[in-house]
Amino acid sequence: MKRLLAVALMLCLCTGCAAPNGGVRNLRVGICLYRQDDTFISLMAEDMQRAAKAIEQEKNVRLTLTFRDAQYSQTLQNEQASAFLEKGYDVLLVNVVDRTAAASLIDKAKNANTPIILFNREPVEEDLRRYDKAYYVGADAAESGTLEGQLLSDQYAADPASLDRNGDGRLQYVMLEGDQGHQDSVIRTEYVIKQLSEAGIKTDKLATGIANWQRVQASTKMALWLEQYGDRIEAVIANNDDMALGALDALDAAGITRRPAVVGIDGTPAGLEAVTARRMLGTVYNDAAGQARNVVRLAYALAQDEGIDRFTLRDGKYLMSPYTIVTPINVSQYTP
Ligand code: BGC
Repeated sequence: MKRLLAVALMLCLCTGCAAPNGGVRNLRVGICLYRQDDTFISLMAEDMQRAAKAIEQEKNVRLTLTFRDAQYSQTLQNEQASAFLEKGYDVLLVNVVDRTAAASLIDKAKNANTPIILFNREPVEEDLRRYDKAYYVGADAAESGTLEGQLLSDQYAADPASLDRNGDGRLQYVMLEGDQGHQDSVIRTEYVIKQLSEAGIKTDKLATGIANWQRVQASTKMALWLEQYGDRIEAVIANNDDMALGALDALDAAGITRRPAVVGIDGTPAGLEAVTARRMLGTVYNDAAGQARNVVRLAYALAQDEGIDRFTLRDGKYLMSPYTIVTPINVSQYTP
């Protein structure tokens, strides 16, 4: 009897699909992150762990998430993704470093007959169409840019002088951008200005610069702009909260008390704190927990091969979360 049990146990371990605790399946999900020190991505990674725990309890399965950090190198990420596929992981999740590399990753997953979900960094639709088990989980970049514009245009409508401080009937701004080639940098930058112009606000771009989503890089850029433009800057528009916070750091360091309006996107804990303290005019909530749940639930369904009809996929490929506006008025709904 004992020997029979030992053999059964060994078989289970070898096939990798069952745990010793009475036939509970162990599903393995390999997750490639573009860089783990990115604030939003690290929040998402924590939320993914929480989402996996919830599924384990609900479904009585083991759902093991294994993370790899590409440290912003596509070469390293390709190796990490290939290793997951070679080891027979059930699903591959990729936060791709360079969006143009998505096609080859999708092809690799297809050759291994492994479902692949890209998240946060969006490939072109054509790439997703290369494989019936390729999906994207994220949020609509244009929507976030439009809402960020609305934060400013609502304020302008309510109290024009609070933004147009020199009273020239125009808004002078500086723009802090995320990494080049990311849909959220390119599209947010475009749509925030589009919204302002649709709201009838005339704008002057004093400066724009890439700060790669990073607080320190943004602070360095802002310090230079403050030397150059001083209090001509009426608004700081950042593609994310970390860069908005970097701008605030530079304003603090320069000892500027009459501050321009600062807006961001994400609603990270530090971003929400800055909104509460009225150091930021507002932010646009990018639902890290919701997207993490979406990606993990979809991964689980694909790993189980249980059908994905219950997910509302746009065009059969995209699982998207809504963005929402956060101001000092409603910020408490977003803080724990
Ligand atoms: C977030 C940024 C983040 C980036 C990483 C964006 O959606 O708003 O904070 O740095 O994704 O890819």
